[in-house]
Amino acid sequence: MKNKVVDLLEQNIEGMSHDELSQLVEIPPKTEMGDFAFPCFRLAKIYRKAPQMIAQDLKEKIGTADFLNKIDVQGGYLNFFIDKEKFAQQIIEDYRNAKEYGSSTEGNGQTICIDYSSPNVAKNFHVGHLRTTIIGNSLHKIFKKLGYNVVRINHLGDWGTQFGKLIVAYKKWGSKEAVEQDGISELMSIYVKFHEEAEKDPSLNDEARAWFTKMEHGDKEALSIWKWFLDISLKEFMRVYDILGMEFDSYNGESFYNDKMPAVIEELKEKGLITVSEGAQIVDLEKYNMPPCLITKKDGSSLYATRDISAAIYRQNTYHFTKCLYVTGLEQKLHFAQWFKVIELMGYDWYKGLVHIPYGLVSLKSGKLSTRKGNILYAEDILKESIQKIHQIIEEKNPDLPDKDTVAKQVGIGAIIFNDLYNQRIKDVLFDWDKLLNFDGETGPYVQYTYARAASVIRKVGDIDPSVFDYSVLTDDASMALLKEISRFPEVVKDASEKYEPCVVARYAVSLAQTFNKFYHDCQINVEEENVKFTRTNLTRIVKNIIRDALDLLGMSCPEQM
Ligand code: ARG
Repeated sequence: MKNKVVDLLEQNIEGMSHDELSQLVEIPPKTEMGDFAFPCFRLAKIYRKAPQMIAQDLKEKIGTADFLNKIDVQGGYLNFFIDKEKFAQQIIEDYRNAKEYGSSTEGNGQTICIDYSSPNVAKNFHVGHLRTTIIGNSLHKIFKKLGYNVVRINHLGDWGTQFGKLIVAYKKWGSKEAVEQDGISELMSIYVKFHEEAEKDPSLNDEARAWFTKMEHGDKEALSIWKWFLDISLKEFMRVYDILGMEFDSYNGESFYNDKMPAVIEELKEKGLITVSEGAQIVDLEKYNMPPCLITKKDGSSLYATRDISAAIYRQNTYHFTKCLYVTGLEQKLHFAQWFKVIELMGYDWYKGLVHIPYGLVSLKSGKLSTRKGNILYAEDILKESIQKIHQIIEEKNPDLPDKDTVAKQVGIGAIIFNDLYNQRIKDVLFDWDKLLNFDGETGPYVQYTYARAASVIRKVGDIDPSVFDYSVLTDDASMALLKEISRFPEVVKDASEKYEPCVVARYAVSLAQTFNKFYHDCQINVEEENVKFTRTNLTRIVKNIIRDALDLLGMSCPEQM
């Protein structure tokens, strides 16, 4: 409908494109002001005429259109009043004619790689990694819906000098039994011990370096200990992915590029990009106002950036991506800016498709989260705690609910995901149990509850033909508002993809749920008159499906009863 209004304007205004006009068209704050409004202030400037005059002239020029009841001038605005029945019909037909509403073929076979989650081996999967996992997973779903081929890459932090330190620590203070029993938390504690001891005895650092060099050269013993640490860590990471129900297409971590780096370093030299500085090889980026990008240390070992450069080249050659997204904390901004620049300097035009997607920190409202050792927040603990808290709430509110375990899992995880995605990525996430588990706020449980409510209404009405609609039933304010929300979904998905912001979808889900709840309150659904009952039930069915699809884009699933 908005498009139709914009078309009308385009036919009657010279020198402004469809897109420009579309950006100007607004949805008025009150229904008395029409369904769409076109502000004439910009045109007034161009034509040096009062905005109201421009609006009046336009109104006369446009005359009338079949989908409009009337056009009004109010102040400097041209207000469009839509023919409500036609509007309802149009939206419902758009929905029903779509193969998969909200999806598109925009991607048209293009590939997008998303590098996300990427926890560090032998370190805990903390709340920060939970954010990249949740954001990356949602971006994957959003781009998939738009027809892109998406490759989900878990760039595990499984290589680097820290593994030399760990091997030294393990040999000096570790035991097989302790590592087997306590996994990552034991590895972390011997790692901490290494740093304490190295303060007193710096020669430990040389030992550690020597072990990492051995790893880089394929030493059997070094690699077998490393591989053991990797397996133990992966087991713990997998538990988190299992709880979340998330998967990856590739687990090629940093170690995967070990044998690919020498060729890349060679290429950097050939292209004249390498400078030697105190024995280290660097790419000087002073001209671009950035510190140098470190390629090798003076002992010849590789660095985080070396592996990222090699990985990007490998991914381009393997997947031919149009975009490769990197979802990490904001603190890595410089790192990505530096090596993106190196790729550009290497003459690869596809550097333009490299995008860093930063996000903010997770902070706690109160220190009440359960922690294992020290003050570290394990993702797994938080997810489990959330599930358990929801279980309790269900036990109190609805003890007879069937399959409580599944529902608690869906809602408990959903609450965490939603809390993470409700605000812009870059904002810090506040962890406040009372707020994020609330069934009434702008939360995951609220949207899921609305879904379950819709499901329950449909169940109560029973079997009816889902294609029956009497559009004249849908002209009241609450139904109209709901139809408008329904019509927004395809735009919402696109907007979220352009901004790389799942919050656009999360906010939409809340708004759709609120609008539905208003409709549910104002318009009785299960009534005697069949045309009314059928139409309202079938509208409810559409809303239910869209809520499901929107939450699916965030990585959440919906219980039919809750
Ligand atoms: N392992 C890194 C960390 O935990 C994140 C890796 C991000 N991806 C990348 N290609 N650098 O901080």
